[in-house]
Amino acid sequence: MNNISLQKIQLMDASQLRRYRRIIDKLLSQKTPVLKGELLSLVEQFLARKASFLALARKHTTPFYILDKPALEMGLKAFTAAFDQHLPGCEYYYAMKVNHHPYIIKRAVAHGFGIDISSGRELMIALRCGAKKLVFSGPGKTLAELELAVSHSDKVIINLDSFQELARLNQVASKKRRSVRAGVRIFTRYHNVWNKFGIDLTELPEFWRKSQEYPSISLQGIQFHMSWNENARPYALVIKELAGCLVQKFTKAELATIKFIDFGGGFRPYLSEGYYPWGTLAGSLIKTVDDHLGQMSHFKDKYYITAAVPIDRYAYGIGQAIKKYLQPLVNCVYYTEPGRIIANGAMHVMLQVVDVKSPQKIIADGGINIVGWERFLHDYFPLINLTNPDRREVSSCIYGSLCMPDDLWGYTCFAKKIKLGDYILVPNQGGLTFSLAQNFIKPIPPVYFLNK
Ligand SMILES: Cc1ncc(COP(=O)(O)O)c(C=O)c1O
Repeated sequence: MNNISLQKIQLMDASQLRRYRRIIDKLLSQKTPVLKGELLSLVEQFLARKASFLALARKHTTPFYILDKPALEMGLKAFTAAFDQHLPGCEYYYAMKVNHHPYIIKRAVAHGFGIDISSGRELMIALRCGAKKLVFSGPGKTLAELELAVSHSDKVIINLDSFQELARLNQVASKKRRSVRAGVRIFTRYHNVWNKFGIDLTELPEFWRKSQEYPSISLQGIQFHMSWNENARPYALVIKELAGCLVQKFTKAELATIKFIDFGGGFRPYLSEGYYPWGTLAGSLIKTVDDHLGQMSHFKDKYYITAAVPIDRYAYGIGQAIKKYLQPLVNCVYYTEPGRIIANGAMHVMLQVVDVKSPQKIIADGGINIVGWERFLHDYFPLINLTNPDRREVSSCIYGSLCMPDDLWGYTCFAKKIKLGDYILVPNQGGLTFSLAQNFIKPIPPVYFLNK
């Protein structure tokens, strides 16, 4: 759609462009405005702990990561409480790819979680952190990884990604004279970009029967996953689709061999982040039109907050769908693989202002190599000036210290003013940042613990 519109835009004259822009403007203005009050409560939670954050900043050289122990405990407890209530007996596997810090893995294990791994490297880290049960999912598992998983088959369930992987795993397992527990990952018509993983749901009955030809494999479960869900609906749709396949294509005896169904992770954190108007389809078109008109784009709303529901609403919706569609068919255990929802709030980044070029152009001492990607061009996170805080945001670009224009932390900051030496907190950076960090120009900074 973007491409078609871009071609159209290129053919328009100035008056057509202006008319078109007004139409898209209207589309964008129909969006939910920023939830200012609710975001403020998030900022206030951090400001209430300002003294603890500042104590760390005065003790250590910036930049650094903060591993927020109370927030991690809260995240783990909130998750298990929600699913214990709405889906009793559910088992949890923390997706360590989202943040592989050993402390996070160890605390997840201490709370009774298994670990979801996607490589031999992750398998070894998880075992060193005391993991007692693991699910191994991911495409293109190498021979060496399969061998490693098979040699730990007492702890590892391998979620297979294809028919070829099924045959390869059987070879590896029979060579080692081991029997391995396995699941199979599926995708459905709802999986969109997530259809690179696993087999098509329509192939599931054939896969189940094929596995009988491989004596070293005990196929016991079905897994699916997609990230970035804002509520329980995508899970419910897939659960209904899967149930339809099981009803129509599985015999009673086959249904009895299903020991687990794993509905993956994908729970977006509640009130934690946002996105910019130009990240929406309408906003990107406005920007394109403005570029053609040779003018700067101005948007009424600075950003929108991502509209994810709290975790107990996900748990309730998934629990209801399972009760309705799967429990009448299959007597099995349910697994889930949360990542971001656990790790997101468990880490923050502390920066210090090293240069004030103008009130609108600030340079911080840490760059986006700390988070590993140009996330802040697209994702909004509140920046909080802990030295001169305010409940209101000032417009001020806070850049990092790397030699790249995209090295930006944000366009606004909760601050009265921003001065040289001020400490800037970038909250909720625990998900897919620390694990993507790069030694690029500057080194990856250290992690310090916040105890309260
Ligand atoms: C197989 C699998 N499970 C779980 C997760 C965790 O997803 P999320 O962080 O969205 O909960 C991922 C992340 O990509 C994944 O690939």
